[in-house]
Amino acid sequence: MPELNLQRQEAPLRRLMGPGPLDVHPRVYKALSSPVIGYMDPVYLKVLDRIGELLPPVFGRTGGITNAMPGTGSSGMEAAVANLLEPGDPVLVCAHGYFGDRVRQMAERQEAEVTVIEAEWGKPTDPQQVEAELKKKSYKLITIVHAETSTGVLQPMDDIARLAREYDAMLLLDTVSSLGGIEIKVDDWGVDACFSCSQKCIGTPPGLSPITFSDRAVEIVKNRKSAVRSWYLDLSLIEKYWGADRVYHHTSSSTLNYALLEALLLIHEEGLQERFSRHYKNHKALVAGVEALGLKMLVDPQYRLPTLNTVVIPEGIDDLKLRRYLLDKFKLDIGGGFGRLAGKVWRVGLMGYSSSADNVLFFIPAISRALAVQGVKTDLSAGLDAVLTELDGNGIDAAAAEAQKIAAA
Ligand SMILES: Cc1ncc(COP(=O)(O)O)c(C=O)c1O
Repeated sequence: MPELNLQRQEAPLRRLMGPGPLDVHPRVYKALSSPVIGYMDPVYLKVLDRIGELLPPVFGRTGGITNAMPGTGSSGMEAAVANLLEPGDPVLVCAHGYFGDRVRQMAERQEAEVTVIEAEWGKPTDPQQVEAELKKKSYKLITIVHAETSTGVLQPMDDIARLAREYDAMLLLDTVSSLGGIEIKVDDWGVDACFSCSQKCIGTPPGLSPITFSDRAVEIVKNRKSAVRSWYLDLSLIEKYWGADRVYHHTSSSTLNYALLEALLLIHEEGLQERFSRHYKNHKALVAGVEALGLKMLVDPQYRLPTLNTVVIPEGIDDLKLRRYLLDKFKLDIGGGFGRLAGKVWRVGLMGYSSSADNVLFFIPAISRALAVQGVKTDLSAGLDAVLTELDGNGIDAAAAEAQKIAAA
């Protein structure tokens, strides 16, 4: 028997500014240290009831079924795909990045008849291309990613939603990097299944996957010809625990759900619109700083995600070395690109509790120094000035006038 290493291990403190997980609010940490209680404890069932009330408005949902699946975002993705698709069902997968392709893989495992529309990484799906495909044949389901974390693209939804209605297809939407940070309107858009994760804009650790199904989707699942090909993710089984019946389905994690409830309270205390504005404002400040440093954003302004910023890595920079430097020197964790964008971009997350002016103001000097270490000079003073101008919303003269008014009051 090899000797066992019994040394205790503590996680280091980091500043999380990557694609997720992100930092969580101190109140969420406190909730995470709640005593573990049973999944049928009447007190815990009330927690689940409250999640059932507070989560739907974040999705923009009334009616249907909304709750949090056990597992990470991929669990919600698989639940949505497995419940809505049966073998042979025609599905149109819009893939404008890595995660759109993951939906394709899952749909293929359900033996659905999959057609894929691919967009260039860094661009959204073009609705005209979707319409051209819908004209060719009838689809049961269209799938699309609202916030593509691999590229930093925000998919405009109005045209896609209109097309799904016009061609009578159901709509499945991935909001893993947007729910809780950007407005989601599943009712208005006619989205039948929409899933997310707990570790990004919602603001808890990974482990839960908020998900919502429309009334129409619930009916479709009830009337399937074949059983859902996943026992664990079968909506009609798990719903018996989420709903009034409260029949055992799996050992629900009280720890994670207490944290989720606290995070949802924080979201509603802040106010949804205020929260979306905060995400947008910090994103604008970060972009202003990045561009004033002389760096480039990957995505055109109108398609940029406010929650996940893709910054183009300048020529000659060693990406891995730079990110390691940020981690070692500043405990700052940002993401690298992957797939087709590996080594080409950094992914800088501003989500949930991590979407803060502090983080933007920390990032700009840190990246400027990390670039300088590799011989690339940037104008830090211009970078910080651009961030501050964006944060005070006015520019220096207006800010000075405002300060005078405050002093005189
Ligand atoms: C857009 C998108 N979809 C799906 C996933 C999968 O989520 P998870 O890694 O939590 O399983 C991710 C993960 O970052 C994502 O960004």
